[in-house]
Amino acid sequence: MGIEKLVKDAKVIAVICNQYGDTGKGKFSDYFASSWADVTARGTGGNNAGHTVKVNGVEKIFHLIPAGISHDSDGKTTILGNGMVIDLKVLNHELDELEREGNTFDNLMISQDAHVIMPYHVSFDKAKNQSQKCGGIGSTGRGIGPAYTDKIARRGITVGDFLDKDRLAKKIDKVIEFYPNSTAVKEEIIEILGPYFERIRPFVRDTVTEMHKFYRNGKKILLEGAQGLLLSVEYGTHPYVTSSDCSLNGTSTGVGLSAKMVDLPFGIVKFPFMTRVGGGPFPTELGGERSEKYCADERTKIDELKEYGIKYSTKNGGVQYDTRAPGIINMMNSDDEFVQGIGIRLAAGEYGATTGRPRRTGWTDAVAAKYAAGINGPLMILTKADSIAGAKKFKICHGYLGEGGISTEFSRDEKFLRRARPVYSEYQGYGEISDARSYSSLPTSLRIAIKDLEAFTEGRVAIVSVGAERDETIVRD
Ligand code: IMP
Ligand code: MG
Repeated sequence: MGIEKLVKDAKVIAVICNQYGDTGKGKFSDYFASSWADVTARGTGGNNAGHTVKVNGVEKIFHLIPAGISHDSDGKTTILGNGMVIDLKVLNHELDELEREGNTFDNLMISQDAHVIMPYHVSFDKAKNQSQKCGGIGSTGRGIGPAYTDKIARRGITVGDFLDKDRLAKKIDKVIEFYPNSTAVKEEIIEILGPYFERIRPFVRDTVTEMHKFYRNGKKILLEGAQGLLLSVEYGTHPYVTSSDCSLNGTSTGVGLSAKMVDLPFGIVKFPFMTRVGGGPFPTELGGERSEKYCADERTKIDELKEYGIKYSTKNGGVQYDTRAPGIINMMNSDDEFVQGIGIRLAAGEYGATTGRPRRTGWTDAVAAKYAAGINGPLMILTKADSIAGAKKFKICHGYLGEGGISTEFSRDEKFLRRARPVYSEYQGYGEISDARSYSSLPTSLRIAIKDLEAFTEGRVAIVSVGAERDETIVRD
């Protein structure tokens, strides 16, 4: 198929997630931004996202700004698109941090049409949605849902509204009525947010029009997705979803383009294990509902390391441990699926980049991947296969056993997904693969599993990632 040639000839590429988020969009956004794109734009979500990029051993986590910002000084444009919801304070912090690293933001654009996450959105979200124990769906508590609610209800505050203080005050008066329990006062909100807005004022643009100019001028445009297809408000496991459409369609809408204009949409699939963070059905979850409850219990990485006797140290607020420690490998090979799930989490370092929550783990669900390909298209990037080195075997789900027999179609219905018993194909495990740079040098069992995935989803695996660094990437011929 010649992926490299397709990339070279493409005008628009999208990097989106075909699962529940956290599949490695950050790495691939950086990958295409550094080697290919003139413009990198994000179209959905806000600081619920955590995009991790590792360059030369240094890890960076972006929440709002697309990973392309690292190439600002090379004349590459970075856009926060019209479909995003923006917390001005968080954006300021992110800019401060980048500025300390020497970034001068010569080519940054922020959409005047993006909605602003207001303080009352954050408190409402925390009270109603964040805590799974209190009946919430387990949101990130960043005010995402309430901000999109106000957008759809036509009362939201946009970035552009801050350009006219009188208008802004009138709009806040109107919307605040809908938050009777909020202690936020209009004057205080304006006083606090005003300076944050002033900081970003030079970057505010009609980014939809700018995008159309870039497209007409033949610039290479990269769309950076956020969250994942199964968390999309349109296509995900509603109501356990985020409040934007993070599919290819929503991502394109969110930057002012049509999905039809995207030449190469890459759907990222974590393989052969996957994760979900927050509540909601997850048919292949190791340890089932016990794991879901356990992960909702506000546990930290350190709690788990202590509980399972894995040595660790702490430095600059970070936690270091050997992801290949014999204790962790043993857990991955445990007969107890619940323990196996924790073993995979520790081996792969699956803790939320935004909230630090333990991510629920399970084998990759090809039924869900097939569904995602039906929306995001057949091209896939597989990530994190290197993480389970040392597991004696791995499994891929190729069907759900339910009341009516085996189904090979996904469903958004919670009851169906919670009852579905995964039907697995089992494969032999493998050792370290991070040094592999050609597809043929990957272990046979992994290649067989990939072939099965392609056959089952009628998709095509274009790229296999074997580590967090940019060069730990295999592009197929
Ligand atoms: P919200 O986006 O904060 O409203 O959270 C809604 C659901 O999406 C929760 O289950 C979150 O855990 C999940 N979620 C939101 N953003 C991300 C992400 O970037 N990665 C993974 N899950 C996410
Ligand atoms: Mg993430």
